[in-house]
Amino acid sequence: MKVLITGAAGYLGSQLTMHLINKGIEVTAYDNMMYNRESLLLCFNHPNLKIVQADVRDLSVAKKHLQDCDYLIYLAGIVGDSACKSVPAISKDINTTAIIDFLEISYKTGIKNVIFISTCSNYGISNPNELVNEQTKLNPLSEYSNYKIEIENFLINKYNGSFTILRLGTLCGISSRMRFDLLINEMCKLASLGRDIHIYTPKAWRPYLTLDEASQSIEKVLLSETKFMNNEIYNIVSENLQKSDLINLIKNVCPDASIKITDKAPDLRDYKVDGNKFNKIFGNFKSNSIKIEIEKMCYAIKNNFFEDIDSSKHSAIPLGSSSI
Ligand SMILES: NC(=O)c1ccc[n+]([C@@H]2O[C@H](COP(=O)([O-])OP(=O)(O)OC[C@H]3O[C@@H](n4cnc5c(N)ncnc54)[C@H](O)[C@@H]3O)[C@@H](O)[C@H]2O)c1
Repeated sequence: MKVLITGAAGYLGSQLTMHLINKGIEVTAYDNMMYNRESLLLCFNHPNLKIVQADVRDLSVAKKHLQDCDYLIYLAGIVGDSACKSVPAISKDINTTAIIDFLEISYKTGIKNVIFISTCSNYGISNPNELVNEQTKLNPLSEYSNYKIEIENFLINKYNGSFTILRLGTLCGISSRMRFDLLINEMCKLASLGRDIHIYTPKAWRPYLTLDEASQSIEKVLLSETKFMNNEIYNIVSENLQKSDLINLIKNVCPDASIKITDKAPDLRDYKVDGNKFNKIFGNFKSNSIKIEIEKMCYAIKNNFFEDIDSSKHSAIPLGSSSI
């Protein structure tokens, strides 16, 4: 099986790429290396890997490499609301127009199925007593989610039957392209370095997923080939947790963590997500994975495994944004 992954050098992409090539899947890792290419250092000469440094908007390069592939996993983009706000025009272009053009050319070159990586953030805010599922009306609270929904709708309306949409929970865990701007990762960093953690809406619910679980889920969907792929949307969630639960998990590892509850709430997301559709077909996630990931990350930070931990290279804000 041959797969092209856009955004393959990113936080999720680099771990997914390593996971799939080690399972015997041939991967073309397509990325403009906006953050760095070090994330692929541990696998660059793997026989199942071809690395292509190119922009998703360069359709002639894309077409050449898509011709060899059976499946496309689309991850590339400007990720998260803060990053999108930092470069609004570029974000709109890369997260909507560029994706649509790339998808059109993928289908024209004969890709069997596109796995589009979307986000549970599309649900925005919901009744805390109910779990939202794939049929629930979306309630986006950011441009980032609006872009994701635009692409979901494009696939549903134009390519019915040959797409899979995976709405992932907020990721956590250690990657070779590390992001410390994701909620759990950031809390681990602040607690481990003895800095204050400012928390708003501590009772807000959000769905979480580890990087490993995300990679395994994408692999399972891919290996099911057409059986569970065509025209499907799956929520992928390991655990729904309140921010106060995260505080408790972090306090287990960093008992002196300083928590400051604030009433400034720049992000109103509050929702619990039902991942049963996916779990019934592909199996449940192991319990405690988020707790274990928190323990691992705090250990790594306390033991100075991250150089330059405050560097902007550990966020999703585009580096050298004038040139993208
Ligand atoms: N991180 C999360 O918590 C999370 C949750 C749900 C969904 N997702 C989705 O997963 C995907 C990956 O997110 P991530 O956290 O790995 O982010 P990331 O910023 O680490 O990865 C994005 C990658 O896309 C590449 N890229 C950006 N613009 C490009 C362009 N024009 N041409 C080629 N490559 C380009 C970047 O170089 C980067 O390697 C995104 O689609 C995101 O929406 C992430």
